[in-house]
Amino acid sequence: MATIRRFGCDDLLRFASVNLDHLTETFNMSFYMTYLARWPDYFHVAESPGNRIMGYIMGKVEGQGESWHGHVTAVTVAPEYRRQKLANKLMNLLEEISDKMDKAYFVDLFVRASNMPAIKMYEKVCFLPTLLINLQLFSLLVYICLMMRCSDQYAVTDLGIMIVPWVFGSTLDIFLIHIEDGCKSTA
Ligand SMILES: CC(C)(COP(=O)(O)OP(=O)(O)OC[C@H]1O[C@@H](n2cnc3c(N)ncnc32)[C@H](O)[C@@H]1OP(=O)(O)O)[C@@H](O)C(=O)NCCC(=O)NCCS
Repeated sequence: MATIRRFGCDDLLRFASVNLDHLTETFNMSFYMTYLARWPDYFHVAESPGNRIMGYIMGKVEGQGESWHGHVTAVTVAPEYRRQKLANKLMNLLEEISDKMDKAYFVDLFVRASNMPAIKMYEKVCFLPTLLINLQLFSLLVYICLMMRCSDQYAVTDLGIMIVPWVFGSTLDIFLIHIEDGCKSTA
């Protein structure tokens, strides 16, 4: 059983055990406080009946015009609470806030190409891989989830979905992304 509620300042003093995971980024206090102050609707925590922090999600909404979108900055679940659909719930919550409250066109996120558990989880909640960025030390995959309001901005083909270039700026042409069965309705 878990309670999902808004993240509060005092949670910053209680979430260290969740952040011990090497795949979870730990930022400085001012970074978290900025997110809390600017995008409080995008920062949620899952708490156990014994008030232990089970996991959290933090994100933001940004962009202009048709690139107005939600972004997942971090999502993490403590090892002892994994595979209970907690991340799934947190992701759906952020997606719903971006969609219903902020009328975002899509939600995006970056994930290390080697982080298979996270990639599987993102694909399960209908995020689609769109771009691979190679940095010096590792590769990052860009995943996006399109909202219904930009349905005229893409076309479903036999090979997958073609998204028009505004998603990542004019320097890149059309992206071809693959869709999993059952995820078409999200696009
Ligand atoms: C990735 C992470 C957030 C998933 O959290 P979770 O609460 O266990 O995920 P869920 O229970 O919601 O899983 C949903 C689906 O994702 C997939 N999935 C999750 N963990 C998986 C794993 N270790 N291996 C394969 N698939 C996995 C499964 O399809 C799962 O559905 P199923 O249990 O019905 O098979 C968690 O493993 C974690 O915190 N990892 C470290 C931090 C991290 O990598 N964050 C993402 C950074 S970009």
